[in-house]
Amino acid sequence: MPKFRIEGGNSLCGVIDIQGAKNSILPIMAATLVADGECVIENCPDISDTHTALEILKTLGAQVKHRGNTVWVDCRNVLDYEIPDSLMRKMRSSVIFLGALLSRHGKAVISFPGGCELGPRPIDLHLSAFEKMGVAIREEFGSLFCNGQTLQGCEIPLAFPSVGATENIMLAAVRARGTTVITNAAREPEIEDLQNFLNEMGASVSGAGSSTVVICGVDSLTGCHHRVIPDRIVTATYLCAVAATRGNALLRNTCPRHNTALLSALRQAGCEIEERGDYLRISCDFLKSARRIRTMPYPGFPTDAQAPFMGLMCVAKGSTVFVETIFENRYKHISELQRMGANITPEGRVAVVEGVKRLKGAPVQATDLRGGAALMIAALAAEGVTEISDIYHIDRGYERPEDVLTQLGAKIQRI
Ligand code: UD1
Repeated sequence: MPKFRIEGGNSLCGVIDIQGAKNSILPIMAATLVADGECVIENCPDISDTHTALEILKTLGAQVKHRGNTVWVDCRNVLDYEIPDSLMRKMRSSVIFLGALLSRHGKAVISFPGGCELGPRPIDLHLSAFEKMGVAIREEFGSLFCNGQTLQGCEIPLAFPSVGATENIMLAAVRARGTTVITNAAREPEIEDLQNFLNEMGASVSGAGSSTVVICGVDSLTGCHHRVIPDRIVTATYLCAVAATRGNALLRNTCPRHNTALLSALRQAGCEIEERGDYLRISCDFLKSARRIRTMPYPGFPTDAQAPFMGLMCVAKGSTVFVETIFENRYKHISELQRMGANITPEGRVAVVEGVKRLKGAPVQATDLRGGAALMIAALAAEGVTEISDIYHIDRGYERPEDVLTQLGAKIQRI
C-alpha cells in the first residue's frame, strides 16, 4: 500500500493551478445519463472518485473516454438500471445516480451507499422526495428497488439543506411531468454548476445557489460541452498548507468568492490574502488562532474544510474552538494529529485546539479524505519525517497532491 513520506519544515512558495471540483464532477457525471447525446466535460479532476463514477457509467452501458482532464460520455445506449453493490460501496455519492436513473428509465436498483466514516449518513431525504414524485421504493436484502414510470413534479420542502438530496431531486425532476420546486435547498456552488450543466443540455432549471430551486420537466435533453468549476476544498487545503508553513503562494484557476468563509477565517488567523479574478495570493508570517470555527451549510464554513483548518490551527498561537454541526463523527483525524504532538481536546461535536510551537513527525494513518488532508498539512509544518498510510482516502479527492506540493517546494514522496 502506498504512503506519503513528508519531511516537514519547508516554507511552501510558488504558483499552482487548482483542479476541477470533485463535488461537481460526480453529480455532473450522473447527469450525463439523462442526455440523448454526447457530453464533453472539461476540467475534470483526475481522482479516484472520478474513476469510480466512470466505472458506474461503463457498467450501465455508457461509452466513456477519458484523456487528461477531459471526459466524453455517451449514454445513448444505456439500458441497464442496476448499480452493482461493489461500486455503490466505493463512494457514498454513488447515490446521486439514483435520480438520474429514475429520470432515464423510470426505475433503478441500487444498494445503500457503504461505509460510515463521518457517522451515520442516511438517505431518507432523497427517498422521501422520490416517493413524493411517485416512485415506489421497496427495500430487500440491502438493495433498493425503485419504480416510477411517470415521475410527477411537486413541491419538496427539505427538512435540512442536503447537498446530495438537492442534486438527486434536480436529476429526477429534469424530465418529470410538470414543475418541481425544492425549498430549503442546499446552496453550494456545485449545485449551481449542476444547474448550468443541465441547462446546457436543454433543461429548465433555475434558482440554484438560492434556497429555492425550480425545475420544469422537459421531454428530452441533448449532449453538451461543459467546464467544471474549480474545487473550493482543494483551494482551502492548499491555502492552509501554505499558511501552516509560513509560506507565500499564488493559486490560479480558482474562484475566491466560493471560499468567503474560509478566507475570512484565514485572515483572522493572520494571513495576508489577495483575491483577484480567478486567483488568490496568500502569505503568512505569523499565525494566530481563528478563535471559533463553526461548520455550516454553504455559505458558512464548509465541513469539508474543518479538518484541514484544524491541521493549521494546531500550529497557530492560541486556542481555537471547532464546532462541527454537519456530521456527527467528523473528528477521526484528531487522534492522528495528537500522535504528532497536537494539543486537542474533543468533546462530542466540539474540539478545542491549543496551538503548539512545533509538531513532530510521526507515522499516522489517513482516516478519511479531508482528515488525510489535515495530516498532510500538519506533516508539512512538523519537525522531522511523517509517514501517512492509507492515502487512498486522499487520492479520492486530490489530484496527485505530491506533485502540487513539490511544485511549492515541499519534500514529499509517494513510497
Ligand atoms: C456533500 C458533499 C460532501 C460534504 C457534504 C456537506 C458531495 C459528493 N459530497 O455530501 O463533501 O461534506 O455535502 O457539505 O457533494 N442527511 C440526512 N438525510 C439525508 C441526507 C443527508 O439526514 O437524506 C444529513 C447527513 O447525515 C448530514 C447532513 O444531512 O448530517 C448533510 O449531508 P448532505 O448535505 O446530504 O451531504 P452529502 O450530499 O452526502
